[in-house]
Amino acid sequence: MLNIALPKGRLGDQVYELLASVGYDCKSIYEENRKLVFENRENGVRYLLVKPSDVAIYVEHHAADVGIVGKDILMESRPDVYELLDLGLGRCRMCVAAREDYMEDRERPVRVATKFTNIAKEHYAGLGREIDIIKLNGSIELAPILGLSDVIVDIVESGNTIRENHLRILEEFLPISARFIANKSSFEFKNGAITQMAQRLGEAVARREEEKKKKEE
Ligand code: PRP
Repeated sequence: MLNIALPKGRLGDQVYELLASVGYDCKSIYEENRKLVFENRENGVRYLLVKPSDVAIYVEHHAADVGIVGKDILMESRPDVYELLDLGLGRCRMCVAAREDYMEDRERPVRVATKFTNIAKEHYAGLGREIDIIKLNGSIELAPILGLSDVIVDIVESGNTIRENHLRILEEFLPISARFIANKSSFEFKNGAITQMAQRLGEAVARREEEKKKKEE
């Protein structure tokens, strides 16, 4: 049995559809209840529905063999897992944004509000710029509006949240998408099953990209 940590929400739904399309379906997952574990013995899969930011924790600690997680979370928490495949889903980018009228004062550290403290520190260290970090857990866009910070470091997908809160993007520095990850010891002991899943997913991703290209032509 392969234990798969699936992020709850839109990304998880898309990834489940992809997995189901290549032979790992588990119909009971559509049952409307509060269950968090679903299995299909015939396919040898057990799905664990977890919070997106916890997927890598389950995989790293061997509570799941494989999982699907955003590159943002991998960059932020650097779990000791194998990153096997870019699924090309959940595309967005890590950005620095500020109020539309923001003017940088180079005489003092930049006050940065973010959920992604490690990513922000690394980014500004690369620029040789001193910062003061304010760690928040959500609604990050409020911080510069209320003067709690000068800028935010956060993910931007459609750009709606930035626009509707009258912020502007100053920099885009990290493209993000969902990754297929594996626990290191599972990869050794369940290698056949994990490699097969990665291969089928890889083929499905390539087919999807091809179709997308054709449509654009
Ligand atoms: C994320 C992110 C932005 C928003 C970006 O927040 O932190 O606020 O999505 O998406 P957009 O560019 O399509 O508007 P999330 O919805 O995860 O909620 P949060 O405020 O609780 O972090």
